[in-house]
Amino acid sequence: MAAPTESPKVLVTGGAGYIGSHAVLALEAAGYRVVVLDSLEYGHPEILERHTQAELVVGHTTDRDLLDQLFQAHDFAAVMHFAAYIAVGESVREPAKYYRNNVLGTLTLLEAMAAAQVSRFVFSSTCAIYGPPKTVPIPEDHPTNPISPYASSKLMVEQILRDFDQAHGLKSVAFRYFNAAGADPEGRSGEDHVPETHLIPLVLLTALGRRESVSIFGSDYPTPDGTCQRDYIHVTDLAQAHVLGLKYLLQGGQSQFINLGNGNGFSVKEVIDVARQVTGRDIKAVFCDRRPGDPPMLVGSSQRARDVLGWDPQYANLQDIIAHAWSWHQQRHG
Ligand SMILES: NC(=O)c1ccc[n+]([C@@H]2O[C@H](COP(=O)([O-])OP(=O)(O)OC[C@H]3O[C@@H](n4cnc5c(N)ncnc54)[C@H](O)[C@@H]3O)[C@@H](O)[C@H]2O)c1
Repeated sequence: MAAPTESPKVLVTGGAGYIGSHAVLALEAAGYRVVVLDSLEYGHPEILERHTQAELVVGHTTDRDLLDQLFQAHDFAAVMHFAAYIAVGESVREPAKYYRNNVLGTLTLLEAMAAAQVSRFVFSSTCAIYGPPKTVPIPEDHPTNPISPYASSKLMVEQILRDFDQAHGLKSVAFRYFNAAGADPEGRSGEDHVPETHLIPLVLLTALGRRESVSIFGSDYPTPDGTCQRDYIHVTDLAQAHVLGLKYLLQGGQSQFINLGNGNGFSVKEVIDVARQVTGRDIKAVFCDRRPGDPPMLVGSSQRARDVLGWDPQYANLQDIIAHAWSWHQQRHG
């Protein structure tokens, strides 16, 4: 009888964060073993402790010695890289902080991987690399035009990935996320950024009375109700796509750049209206001027994710996304 083989082990950077923690849950459910590397500058280690078997290593992706030790100690089949700073506004004020963490941190990690001959990489990129869209829904071959250092940092990493594939045979899937939203349907993890800048948590914190009102920036956009439309993707569907991306690479797939969005746009007003229905609370909204650089519509085509990975999102409607986020917020902040 053949000896039982151990399931593949994956290094997940930023695994204590919002999206990373959902990926750890999805990886373990799919039978992978997980080691998390997280600096804990942000992120919530108690979620991992309570709900996963993952080993947590506290450290930074810019620490090459630590990375070398990790790659020596573990036989990783692949790396999933969520660790990054994510605040667009802060990146405009402090670009060096973003290039150091998001670009240099990733480059250091990729060099350590090449040295250890680990050659499968799943990366969190962003739809922000496209800039103001020329066509909607946005396909992956849309021109890129990042308008913040945050977005530029992600596009730079995408170029580094092309070059590492050429030079070292490193195969990667770079997922360009639209707006990650919602929470684990079983209530084990959810969104809790400090400071919070994302619309759905801001709306729900207002419903909980932790904020007085939610701002609607612009009401005269060329959209059906005049407010901006965005593409919200349930974080559990996003995590599932990562598991599929990993399997694709482990089966010998070539490098890919893949949008992860819902394919449907929801306006700011629609989000607030659905949140009022789901929560049964009055959510005060205040109209403000447009913010510079906000495109009227940001909606992605998810065709490539479906074609290449067979991805089939389970929670594409806004009610589910907001209902799961609301359960999480009530449990966390209620
Ligand atoms: N949230 C979204 O809607 C969205 C959209 C597009 C792309 N992304 C990308 O997805 C990834 C995860 O985003 P999130 O919303 O979960 O953010 P998050 O802040 O909740 O998680 C990031 C985690 O990475 C850790 N971290 C940061 N820099 C690190 C470093 N150098 N070394 C080790 N750990 C580090 C933080 O402590 C945190 O736990 C990021 O790369 C982000 O750019 C997110």
